[in-house]
Amino acid sequence: MRVLLAMAALALVAAAPPARPLAVTLPDAEGLLPERYGVSADAANNNCLACHSAAMITAQPRLTRVQWGETIAKMRTVYGAPIDPADDKAILDWLVAD
Ligand code: HEC
Repeated sequence: MRVLLAMAALALVAAAPPARPLAVTLPDAEGLLPERYGVSADAANNNCLACHSAAMITAQPRLTRVQWGETIAKMRTVYGAPIDPADDKAILDWLVAD
């Protein structure tokens, strides 16, 4: 009887359809922000991705340069982001590039 049960179980397993590979969507390269219209994203990558994903940054609505400047200031003062003021221009150039 045990042998029969074991054979039945084996038959069931053998009849199961082959496992399909999972469809997994991986983030691009290393999850970095891309260059925009020739403007390097290096400064934004170095200063924003410590706390945010690239997708969070690129999903933002379009803001003016002044508004982005206020956002950077808020990141610094409210959230303690260690953004070097020397990088502000390069970050802003990328944020408003179009
Ligand atoms: C030290 C961590 C930290 C860094 C670095 C940082 N942020 Fe933030 N940021 C936060 C936190 C915390 C919030 C509020 C919670 C949230 O919305 O995720 C936030 C919110 C935001 C928001 C939502 C709108 C708002 O005003 O709250 C935007 C846009 C944003 N950050 C952009 C940036 C950009 C651009 C950079 C790089 C220049 C940056 N952040 C760097 C911590 C950080």
